Amino acid sequence: MSPADGSPRASARAAGRPGPRPVVRTPSGAPVATTSARRVVVLVSGTGTNLAALLAAHDDPDYGARVVGVVADKAGIGGLAVARDAGVATAVVAPGDFADRSRWDGALAEAIAVFRPDFVVSAGFMRILGAAVLDRFPARILNTHPALLPAFPGAHGVRDALAYGVRVTGCTLHVIDAGTDTGPIVAQAAVDVEPEDDESSLHARIKVVERRLLVDWVGRIARDGMVVDGRTVRVG
Ligand code: GRF
Repeated sequence: MSPADGSPRASARAAGRPGPRPVVRTPSGAPVATTSARRVVVLVSGTGTNLAALLAAHDDPDYGARVVGVVADKAGIGGLAVARDAGVATAVVAPGDFADRSRWDGALAEAIAVFRPDFVVSAGFMRILGAAVLDRFPARILNTHPALLPAFPGAHGVRDALAYGVRVTGCTLHVIDAGTDTGPIVAQAAVDVEPEDDESSLHARIKVVERRLLVDWVGRIARDGMVVDGRTVRVG
């Protein structure tokens, strides 16, 4: 094509100026953002409010992290709808579809790897990750837990804290290791237990603080990097 075709790109080329930047679009017409943000895959089993908080932050180019994929252990959950509404690709890897735990774990590792993550965030993913996942993303998987670890690990951190009678509980962001909520701690925040609290009211208040902590630290880790040295985690 010669400059005589009159297009802005051709006349710019003829004048020695760079032409307009090409705009890449998805089949739906949405422009594809160019970004140097760290790629984050989020694992979910529930309503996905932590995921929603990350998605609310990730469009800011200064945030430093972008959710590029969401993987769930079952279909039909709120977290998948949150991802789809935000235009984020999803995968479901359900244990019931596999002959045993180790095959499920291998498939989960593959599904996560498809998105080429820099970090993986387990945000309400109610499964223990096995060796296939841990070995594939060493020291790059974070978990958010609704209690002040090492107190009250496991699936019922809020209920157990309440039953114990603690006056202060909270949430913990930690690096996942092979144990149940035993990995090196990145950050924690405290929440007072009120006399009238039940599990649901206390968990709702913890989740407000938990979302803030998660968004804050995922951004810091993405921007400044994270080094895990034994039980010590250094960010920046
Ligand atoms: C969070 O409190 C998480 O710590 C716990 O389950 C909850 C998930 O909430 N394991 P959501 O699905 O992000 O709303």
